[in-house]
Amino acid sequence: MIGIICALQEELKEIRSAMEPDGELSFSGVDYYLGKLEGVDVVCAVCGVGKVFAAICAQTMILKFRPELILNVGVAGSLSPSLRVADVVIARQLVQHDMDVTALGEPRGKILGSDIRFIPTTESVRDEFFSAIMTLNAAGAFGGKEIKALQGTVASGDQFISSKGQKQLIAEEFGALACEMEGAAIAQVCYVNKLPFCVIRAISDSADSSAHMDYPHFVALAALNTSKVVREFLKNRKK
Ligand code: ADE
Repeated sequence: MIGIICALQEELKEIRSAMEPDGELSFSGVDYYLGKLEGVDVVCAVCGVGKVFAAICAQTMILKFRPELILNVGVAGSLSPSLRVADVVIARQLVQHDMDVTALGEPRGKILGSDIRFIPTTESVRDEFFSAIMTLNAAGAFGGKEIKALQGTVASGDQFISSKGQKQLIAEEFGALACEMEGAAIAQVCYVNKLPFCVIRAISDSADSSAHMDYPHFVALAALNTSKVVREFLKNRKK
């Protein structure tokens, strides 16, 4: 079984409507939807926004459903001029941009008392996602427009990034391509459970002063793109 975690209903909507449903269970206020997607057994959940909700959901999913892989799917703000609305970032590694014990001599993002700063995603899963996007681009599946797929660092924190200053700080400090609010928490849970995982996000805004206007406008398009990528990824897994 593959676990799929989104922060918001909007991000899971297309995936859920493509699923053959096979029941629901609820734990700690989160609904877990069981079923098949492209012939593959999946468990999906909307965890809520931010790192705490994301961690609660990922750990519960692992203990209750024992998935072999967890995917965190949704939208992100772009930190790079190379990534525009509707493009996709496949996270190579995740970091918490708001974890800050620099006062104790640690680099920003480092979790004190652990070896955790950047948490790498599962390489084979990244490769599968990349080829799924190439297949979809070749088929003109994104409304006839080619989307860009970049692999790189994704930075997570409990902040909606919406200013040039905040954006620059995160991009420069971590070399991150995109920012969101859950991926690094899910990464940490998977890391301590030694579970394969990946984070895939489509760009909904540029994390700058226009972000609050772009985000509501483009969230549905971005979520649609990630749902297409996830379905193609699962199709290839079934083969
Ligand atoms: N998710 C989508 N856009 C975002 C942004 N600008 N900041 C944080 N999370 C996001």
